[in-house]
This record gives sequence, structure tokens and C-alpha cells, in this order.
Amino acid sequence: MSDAIESVLHEDRTFPPPPAFQAQARLSSLEEYERLYEQSIQDPETFWDGIAKELPWIEPYQRVLDWSQAPRAQWFTGGKLNASAVCLDQHLESRGDQTAILWEGEPGDVVRLTYRELHAQVCRFANVLRERGIKRGDRVAIYMPMIPELAMAVLACARIGAVHSVVFAGFSAQALADRIDDGGCTAVITADGGWRRGKVLPLKPAVDEALVGREGVHTVLVARRTENEIDWIEGRDVWLGEALQAASAECAPEPMDAEDLLFLLYTSGSTGKPKGIMHTTGGYMVGTYLTTRYVFDLRDDDVYWCTADVGWITGHSYIVYGPLANGARVVMYEGAPNAPHPGRFWELCEKHGVTVFYTAPTAIRAFMKWGDEHVERYDLSKLRLLGTVGEPINPEAWIWYHRTIGGERCPIVDTWWQTETGGIMLTPLPGVTTTKPGSCTRPFFGVDAAVLSESGTELEANQGGLLAIRRPWPSMLRGIWGDEQRFRETYWSQWPGIYFPGDGARRDADGYFWIMGRVDDVINVSGHRLSTMEVESALVSHESVVEAAVVGRPDDLTGQAIVAFVTPAAGAQAGDALAAELAGHVATEIGKLARPAEIRFTDALPKTRSGKIMRRLLRDIAAGVEIVGDTSTIEDYSVLAKLRGYDD
Ligand code: PRX
Repeated sequence: MSDAIESVLHEDRTFPPPPAFQAQARLSSLEEYERLYEQSIQDPETFWDGIAKELPWIEPYQRVLDWSQAPRAQWFTGGKLNASAVCLDQHLESRGDQTAILWEGEPGDVVRLTYRELHAQVCRFANVLRERGIKRGDRVAIYMPMIPELAMAVLACARIGAVHSVVFAGFSAQALADRIDDGGCTAVITADGGWRRGKVLPLKPAVDEALVGREGVHTVLVARRTENEIDWIEGRDVWLGEALQAASAECAPEPMDAEDLLFLLYTSGSTGKPKGIMHTTGGYMVGTYLTTRYVFDLRDDDVYWCTADVGWITGHSYIVYGPLANGARVVMYEGAPNAPHPGRFWELCEKHGVTVFYTAPTAIRAFMKWGDEHVERYDLSKLRLLGTVGEPINPEAWIWYHRTIGGERCPIVDTWWQTETGGIMLTPLPGVTTTKPGSCTRPFFGVDAAVLSESGTELEANQGGLLAIRRPWPSMLRGIWGDEQRFRETYWSQWPGIYFPGDGARRDADGYFWIMGRVDDVINVSGHRLSTMEVESALVSHESVVEAAVVGRPDDLTGQAIVAFVTPAAGAQAGDALAAELAGHVATEIGKLARPAEIRFTDALPKTRSGKIMRRLLRDIAAGVEIVGDTSTIEDYSVLAKLRGYDD
């Protein structure tokens, strides 16, 4: 038991697929799922061959999988294809006049692009890149707001075989510069600015700052969005709109090898500098194509909206590549969920008739906090499927999502995956799986997932341990850019030949996975290893709590003690009485072993711009030590200052 994580979250509500949904679903029987899943594990090459054949290859592959150079997998070797042609060209005949991207800006301006129009724009964009000397294999940084040109930029790079490295527009100039350096980028695609909560988020100035002294970047393409004044460097800077107008709308897609790099995307590890995760063309396209099709049960009349930013993997895989490969109607939105009002997302759902909606638990908790009245004003009856991604969802938020957004008729797919996995790995299939709030349920096809001990033995039901993926899958990362050793150490050294995602998990008696957060967020109290997420979930289930983050601090007696940072609900009286009540509540929900030693109330928690709570900072604050390490990804520095104030 010593290396097992104690898993104490109790949740026994179950939700079978709603019959009306199931009746029309692509996959609707558990037997069918189990048969396909078995095949995908027993004979993965035949399974993946059957799927991959559905993509428009330029030249056929000779071999489905070569794992002889593990951990570097080669999928669909010898095959040639182009990701932008998979997303666009193949649809021109069958659905050229159908909407591909339905975009709305924060101020309410709308752009609709059909597959034909998007194809023409991407071809022009690709020609502009070529005219600027950008060629196959070059790395191009993209630093843009959520405007259609962002999706076009990604696809235009793919079209000519340039490697895109999208840097989320909320990152600082320094973070952008670091990523440009690491990737050796020679061009940047940006915009003058973007709209965020009614204000201009200036992007070109950040690019200018990032490029000081970086002579290797010869071109900066600038989309016009906010019309703010910007500096201009003749020769280097190019207005995108003008260049597109002058360019030809014909551009043959570059035939890429299945294992040619498609993109780099940087993600944080537990320590050190960000890692440039490498994804290649064939496997990534097969993986995102199939997961989008089955997890979101996409049908021709769906209006699909994933609220992520293209700056993150979710936006790459489930705004751009996966949905477009499936010929979907994709909604894209520029702004914040509460600008100009807290009902903005629901207004968009009503206005555009959204049927499939995919968002993050942190957003769901914000909607809960803002109040149901902002939801109830809108007609959400077209919604038929909901999804979540990015962090464990606490059952309270799940139930709220189910009732208030889904009207109790929409299945919820809680999808577990990572930047590194490229696509969804553990997930319900909405017409098949009986869901349990807080569980991402079962593995997707081809995913051989298990819960192992540190030494690699498979644990019994309900024993907490480490999540492991025991076989290669098509959309897996192929490496960390420029750091083969870190790739091997981070992901492949825990157990030989087995992928280590860095998450704690347990599997229940039904074979359902419950993710317990990052293992580096696991705390050990009196020899009990506890998931911070479980304590948080317990806290958040209390009516006086909006959000909570739990960390361990060193304790002489118990090894570690639990410190909880809690944002109280409006009207709740923060103070000793509430702290005692919450500690008691955690003890009731989980057990005395999980009772926080200390509860600190705070208006806000320090988060990254993608909404992840920065537990590392909280750990330092809880321990009363100087904050060391990288704080460049924090969204709001004032939160940090306020939290530090408690130590004074
Ligand atoms: O800890 C897991 C959590 O997010 C991590 C991956 O983060 P990132 O690479 O930024 O990708 C996020 C979008 C795919 C995982 O290691 N995570 C992601 N989805 C879930 C989750 N934790 C629990 N449940 C999920 N559905």
C-alpha cells in the first residue's frame, strides 16, 4: 500500500446515455464498443489500418506501426499526406458550400467561411508564406488572437510543410521569445491586437519586444484586427490582408511524409523550461480524425463549439484538425466568456444553434459562480452533447453542467488527455457509456491504459496509483524538440516501454478511470498519500465555497500537512467559523486524514492563462518560503501579491 495513492472520493451516481441520444448515435451498443476496443488492442495494426484508409493519402503507407525504435514510434511509414488537404481539399466536392468556420468576435462581428472559401484563403496564405521564403521544415511562430486568420495560419503552414509553433496570445513577450529561440523560428504570424473584455490585447508590440536582437526572424506577418497603432519595421513586417489579396488562390499541398513534423507546441513540465512537444503528420491526423468522430458523435447537421484557444492542444486537435478533417461546422469565438456579460457563451449557443459544446471545468465553475440567471435567459434546446477537458471535474460542477446547461438530456464526455497524447485517450462514448460524475470512464480505441504502482505492477480496483499507457497510439508525441534525453526521462523511464503521463489515477470495479491530478500534486499526510483534487472536490461541494486549491506543506509530525486556499461564495462569511466548518466538511466527505491543517481564504487563486491553478506557487506560499522558479505564465500578478500578504 505504501506506493498506492489513497483514493477516497465517493461518487456513486450513474447516468446511462439518454435513449433519444442513443437512438441516433454513431455507436450505441456497449457490445459494439467492446468488440472494437478488443480488436484495437489485440490487433492494432488491422484496426488502425481500417481507420487510416478513410483519410485521403497522397501515397499509401507500407506499414501501420514500427515500434522497433521505441520510444520513438513510426506510424504509417512510407505514406504521404498533407494535413491541410485532409481538412479542406477532400471536402471541396462533397461540402464546398457548407460552413467550415463560423466565427464571432468579442464585439459581435461575425465571419462565416465555407470549406471552399477557407480553402482559397489557406492557399493564398500558403503562397504568401512561400513568397517570403518560408519552406518545408522551417519553424513558424504563431501569436494571434482567436480570429479566423489563426486557423488559416496553422493550415497554411501545414500546406507548405512548415512547422507551426503556436504560442498562446496571453503569454508575455519573454515567453514568446523563449519559444522562438528554442524552436529556431524564422517567421512570426501575429495581429495588431485582439479583443479581450472590451480592451485591446496588444500583440504586435509584444512581438516587437520579443524580436529585439533576434535577427533569425526575417518575416512578421500582421493581421489587422483592432486597428491600434503599431510600430513597423520595413522589410520585416508585412500586412497579411494586403498580401493575401495579392496572392494566388491556388497552391498544391506539399506531400508530407507521415512522420514529418506537423507542429511544435510548448507545455510546462513540473520544473525547468517549457518543452516543445513534437507531433507528426500521419498519426496525429488519424488520431484526431477518429476521436472527434466518435467522442463528439459528429453528424452532418451538428454545430460544434470547442471554447478552447487554438494556443493550446485542445484548440489544435478539436477546433482545427479533428473537426475540419471530419467536415464539421466549427464555431470559433474571440473573446472572454463574461464579456460583455456573463451569459455570452449561452447567447452564442442560442444564436448559432450550437449542438455540441466542449469546455473546461474551470469555466464551468465560473458559470456556476456567476449564477443560473445568465443561463436561463437563453434557449439551449439545440445542445445535444457536452464535453469537458483539462482537469478533473468535481461532481458538483458535473451535475450543474448536466442540469443547467444540458437540460438533463445531453450526455457529458469527460475527456482525459494531454498535449503529449495529441488526442483524447480516456473518455465516455456518448451513445454507449454510462457516465459517473468525476470519472473520464474508459479508454478510447487503441488505448491500453492501466493503473500501476511505482514499480510497475497493476493495481487492484480502487487502489490509487499511477496512470500508464502500455502501447503506442497514433497521435502520441514523437519527442521533445531538441531534448531527446528529457523525452526519455520524463515519459519513458518510470517503466520501460510504457508511457508515463504523470497523473495519479484509480480504476473502479467497473473498469472506470478516476484521475486524481498530477502526481506532483499528491500529498502525503501521516503516510497517507492523498490527491489534492479529492480534497478540493470535497471543499467545493460545500455551498460556501466557489473554488479551492489544496497543497501540502512540510510538517514535522505528519510529514506533510494540508493547506487549502479557498475562495468563498458571495455572501459567505470568511473567518474562523467557516474554516472550522469546512475542515469538518472535508472530514465528513473524505475522512479525518484529509482534514486541512490550515484554510486560507482568498478572493482569487493564482492561475495560468489557461486557467490551471498554479499549485507550485501555492506550495511555496503555504510553506512560507520565497517563491522560486518561473512565474511567467501567471494570469494576474496581483493575486500573488495578495496571497503573499497573508504571510506578512
Ligand atoms: O492532469 C491531466 C489534466 O491535464 C493534464 C494535461 O494538460 P495539458 O497538456 O495542458 O492538456 C490539457 C488538455 C488536453 C493531464 O495530465 N487533465 C486533462 N484532461 C483531464 C485531466 N484531468 C482529469 N480529467 C480530465 N478530463
